[in-house]
Amino acid sequence: MTIKAKLKKFQTSSEYSIPDAGSNLIRLNLNESAYPLPERLKEKILSRLKNAAWHLYPSDRNFSLLSRLASYTGHQPDGILLGNGSNELIQTVAYACCSGGDTLATLKPGFSIYKKVAELIDIKVIEIPLKPDLSFNLEKIIEAGQEARVIFLGSPHNPTGQTLSRQQVEEILTQVSSLVVLDEAYAEFSKETSVPLLSSYDNLLILRTFSKAFRLAGARFGYALGQPETIQALQAARLPFSVGLFQQTAAEVLLEEKDYLQDEIQQTIKERERLFNQLQSFKTFQPFPSRANFLLVKSHCLPAKKIFLRLLAKGILVRIFDSPELPELKDKFRITIGQPQENDCLLAVLQDIEKEVLSDQKS
Ligand SMILES: Cc1ncc(COP(=O)(O)O)c(C=O)c1O
Repeated sequence: MTIKAKLKKFQTSSEYSIPDAGSNLIRLNLNESAYPLPERLKEKILSRLKNAAWHLYPSDRNFSLLSRLASYTGHQPDGILLGNGSNELIQTVAYACCSGGDTLATLKPGFSIYKKVAELIDIKVIEIPLKPDLSFNLEKIIEAGQEARVIFLGSPHNPTGQTLSRQQVEEILTQVSSLVVLDEAYAEFSKETSVPLLSSYDNLLILRTFSKAFRLAGARFGYALGQPETIQALQAARLPFSVGLFQQTAAEVLLEEKDYLQDEIQQTIKERERLFNQLQSFKTFQPFPSRANFLLVKSHCLPAKKIFLRLLAKGILVRIFDSPELPELKDKFRITIGQPQENDCLLAVLQDIEKEVLSDQKS
């Protein structure tokens, strides 16, 4: 294969480019936190950084950060791996576990990065369909887990927001031969976790991130939880000094100050339920119940792309899945839970769209 052909494989076109953080759009498309980090915490991170040793490589096994993560999660420090966001850890896991003809399994529809990573490193993907009502199909997950080397599941699942119960996770773990990677990026909003299963199952790995409830998407920090041997192997499978001083310092400060998390989490859950209830009263839109900081919404009348463009014209960005590979999402869009006034703006525009659709239907 020529170098041009090889590089062409990675070229993708995006019809809807993402605006930068400074734009005035209401960003309800990436499941970021709706709330900036408090100034006091930014100041504390900056002052800690000022005194840090910038001229030295950062530690891959920063014990004080690992201990704080251990007490936050209830898992042992030597079972924790630091990462540049969970995306990087997804890549590390796929790279460490799979090669050549190996297979990675993931849900369809699901978080796109699992499949993207598999494609980047040329490994085969099994896409496990959700049921027609978009709930988990446990039988199919278990079936795929007989064949795949590693299986990526999300709980809460993106884009539906549904969770796997601990019993379901346990059922999967006992019946599959693959490594089960449970992505708990939104666990703080569901208040559910499978961390207690880590001590009993050596084929479980849990991924977490600081990009959601911790409000640190810009700095890129995540971590993996597993049995110490798995964590050691993953550590060895990647380049040294990968997680920089800035992320490590920010994460450590935020863990010291973790009480700041609670208000925003509660507010987001309250807003999620308010939005859900309001959307249920619409005739043309139907939300899916969610345990995360986003809602998937089905549009009965207009295709999701039209809704996206109508909202964009009013300065609101939501996420659509405009791909021929995802016909089941053609009529659905995902909204991140924003601040109350942002959610009000969204509801007002959706209300206008609904009024128009209903009056068009009458005439
Ligand atoms: C399920 C899931 N995992 C991981 C991520 C990415 O997390 P990070 O910012 O830590 O790379 C996202 C982001 O939307 C996500 O939805």
